[in-house]
Amino acid sequence: MSGIDTTGQIGVIGAGTMGAGIAQLAAAAGHEVLLYDAVGGAADTGRARVAEGLEKLVSRGKMTAEAVEALVGRIRVAADLSDFRGVALVVEAIVEKLEVKRAVFAELEGIVGPEAILASNTSSISVTSIARDLEHPERVVGMHFFNPAPIMKLVEVISGVATAPGVAQRVFDTAEAWGKVAVHAKSTPGFIVNRVARPYYAEALRLLEEQVADPATLDALLTEGGGFRMGPFTLMDLIGHDVNYAVSQSVFDAYYQEPRFRPSQIQLELVNAGRLGRKSGRGFYDYGTGAEAPAP
Ligand code: NAI
Repeated sequence: MSGIDTTGQIGVIGAGTMGAGIAQLAAAAGHEVLLYDAVGGAADTGRARVAEGLEKLVSRGKMTAEAVEALVGRIRVAADLSDFRGVALVVEAIVEKLEVKRAVFAELEGIVGPEAILASNTSSISVTSIARDLEHPERVVGMHFFNPAPIMKLVEVISGVATAPGVAQRVFDTAEAWGKVAVHAKSTPGFIVNRVARPYYAEALRLLEEQVADPATLDALLTEGGGFRMGPFTLMDLIGHDVNYAVSQSVFDAYYQEPRFRPSQIQLELVNAGRLGRKSGRGFYDYGTGAEAPAP
């Protein structure tokens, strides 16, 4: 068994934080990529963000301008999902809502060829549930990247109840061919990393609720003292509070509302205020000034 070779076209649905990064990664591996987003102009913006990020590498001498042009040239914006007719693999990276994902996968089934693999980048939703109503649930699998997708090494390959072992292995091998470290996991709430990480966020949010210390102090403590690469508040700002809250809620519900997974009102209030983190310019920290000062 081997991964999808570079002649295989990759379709990415959702051109936000994760989708654009996944498109970059697949294009860097040599694939032609189709990038689709339901919001008009969002896929163009995603592609432009990829180009912008790579141009920084050119200015630092880490990539040539020609290589960037070739990579970005391999990412094409799809006007419609029907453009996905010839793809070998679809990676869905849309909003973290089961019903929306199910509708997209159902639509895809009527478009792609019989050999195409349908993967979801979901952080927490059951792969078994996403596949449930499909004619061919055996080709549905989780391909869970971490943020930022071009940089973070790990990919969880999630098998639902119906996922064919050969499909999971092919996605595993593809991830490895893209330079990732892949791991097989079963479809359980939060899979491996998000299950272990939820209490990291939840306990930090509880410390904040109890006014033990502010986000900057807690972040500094965990990075400088605890050896974590990123403090929980910086990390939640990077993930996006809308996504992080939806994942917290989904894992909490899936574990029959176990208190240790309880989402925080602070997260919800940030979502309600539209302070989604880096992507909206403000979350726990303010990114407008570049100073990353804690938000009031
Ligand atoms: P995002 O909010 O940055 O981007 C989502 C994009 O999907 C938006 O551009 C939106 O317009 C588009 N979209 C929504 N519904 C759509 C539909 N029906 N059809 C086509 N496009 C649609 O979200 P983000 O952060 O990229 O997350 C996407 C998925 O990846 C979620 O399932 C999330 O749980 C997962 N994920 C997120 C991580 C993170 O750190 N943000 C890490 C790993 C996985």
